[in-house]
Amino acid sequence: MEKKKKILVGYATRYGSTKGVAEIIGNQLSELGYDVKISGLMEKIDLSDIDAAFIGSPLHLGKWLPEAREFVQSRKSELNRVPVIAFTTGITIAEPNEHNLLKAKFAIDEISQYIIPFESGFFAGRISRDLLNESDLQLVKMAKIQDGNYIDPEKIKDWVIKTCNNLKEERDKQKHL
Ligand SMILES: Cc1cc2nc3c(=O)[nH]c(=O)nc-3n(C[C@H](O)[C@H](O)[C@H](O)COP(=O)(O)O)c2cc1C
Repeated sequence: MEKKKKILVGYATRYGSTKGVAEIIGNQLSELGYDVKISGLMEKIDLSDIDAAFIGSPLHLGKWLPEAREFVQSRKSELNRVPVIAFTTGITIAEPNEHNLLKAKFAIDEISQYIIPFESGFFAGRISRDLLNESDLQLVKMAKIQDGNYIDPEKIKDWVIKTCNNLKEERDKQKHL
């Protein structure tokens, strides 16, 4: 029997929702038969024997969190050995019009100097002013970001299934070259 492929799901988070999205992704990958490790990007992470990595962050003022940017920068040579799939959460993605999606994609353009994602997923996140620290609260008020929980597990799971099919197709193509 073929050995299970190992996939890392690494996330950055401030208030837990991107961790939740990482868990939905990880659980779906396990259901599809992969050997999955879900890990915060601040933890010690071994990338030596993975076959693919899903790496994600929430948007903060249009960018990935500093620790997520730092992770892809400092680990780029290890990450570039395998397909990397980026996932991004943001409150603006709850309204996925062209303008909001283009803005979210800028965050991926910025990290593309280190890794070129095989695919990028953009998912609506969650925000609750009650949980925010003082400086984030001020920023959120200034940016007129409203509270809400827009996480859509089914959408995330469908994206994981589609992404894994694309990964398999790509692998088969490479084998035939
Ligand atoms: C300080 C701050 C800035 C944010 N900036 C953006 C932004 O630029 N674009 C966006 O779509 N969402 C923005 N958000 C919303 C978060 O991306 C969203 O709530 C996300 O789900 C939070 O993830 P977390 O719970 O893992 O920290 C911001 C939230 C905070 C607190």
